[in-house]
Amino acid sequence: MSTTSTGAGTDTVAPAAASAPAAATAHSAEPLLRATDLVKEFAVPGTGGLLGRADTFRAVDGVSLEVRARETLALVGESGSGKSTTARLVARLADATSGEVVFDGEPVTRAKGERLRRFRSEVQVVFQDPYSSLNPRHTVERIVTAPLVYQGRKVPGGTTAFTQQLMERVGLDPDHHRRYPSQFSGGQAQRIGIARALAVSPRLVVCDEAVSALDVSVQAQIINLLRRLQREEGFSYLFIAHDLAVVRQIADRVAVMSKGRIVEQGGRDAVFDDPQHEYTRTLLSAVPRIRPEWERARREAAEARAAAPGETSAPEEGTTA
Ligand SMILES: Nc1ncnc2c1ncn2[C@@H]1O[C@H](COP(=O)(O)OP(=O)(O)OP(=O)(O)O)[C@@H](O)[C@H]1O
Ligand SMILES: [Mg+2]
Repeated sequence: MSTTSTGAGTDTVAPAAASAPAAATAHSAEPLLRATDLVKEFAVPGTGGLLGRADTFRAVDGVSLEVRARETLALVGESGSGKSTTARLVARLADATSGEVVFDGEPVTRAKGERLRRFRSEVQVVFQDPYSSLNPRHTVERIVTAPLVYQGRKVPGGTTAFTQQLMERVGLDPDHHRRYPSQFSGGQAQRIGIARALAVSPRLVVCDEAVSALDVSVQAQIINLLRRLQREEGFSYLFIAHDLAVVRQIADRVAVMSKGRIVEQGGRDAVFDDPQHEYTRTLLSAVPRIRPEWERARREAAEARAAAPGETSAPEEGTTA
């Protein structure tokens, strides 16, 4: 039994498409998310103690950004520049030292209880390492439905059917719903993480280096998947990547971080073709303009699409086994 993981993008009964998540803000000039002057301080290790307060340093030092409905804002910058910390503040996985986050017109920086729960279902995060972000002892079915269980929501149609529909949408074999993360390849495991994010019909998906650990051709397939899901669902991405070739594939706008601050932001082409800040120019100078593997992966995906309408990416190694 080796059903190819087609069906992605062709089904009309997909659970996550049941509600129109981004509709509320689509007509509004207000961004979906607005972060203003976010600051996050950490203690400097080895300082402080009985006699005094620890020294602090600012991992995030006054970051303001907007993510509009249905767009992809990429956050780029060197290692340690504060991208992940910013993402964690925005998603309320960590509390800011100061600053404000407004989501869909509502301040969420200090939201608690029911409001925080609701916010957490509207903002989902996909992390870099799928294996460490998926519980190895849980089946795909349990993993994918966990956010709904956390929300105290009923799983529409029952957990198995719901999981299988989501698996199809992300290009996984629905027969594998009782398997464990370790039984999937890296790209497939990342698809499970994406399915879990989709389960609650999010309006913002934060991808923190979500494709960075994958081989280049698998990377291209996952990016195709992310783009298709965005088209279908209408959600926004805050897309963190250190790889600017990846960013060029997916971003509408780009914000460049250095040492906890955003030093430049603008439309993708403006930032890539006419960078204003010296730091951005240095980052860009390290990137090859065209990557042969990317071009090949894109061509293969286009051919696969032409051969099997409805399928976005060529099945990756092991996707159906
Ligand atoms: N929980 C923490 N406690 C102390 N310091 C932290 C913590 N989290 C992050 N930092 C520090 O904050 C700074 C920014 O880290 P962050 O992970 O946000 O960077 P990044 O841009 O995501 O880097 P990378 O590209 O390597 O993922 C780093 O100096 C990091 O060591
Ligand atoms: Mg990071």
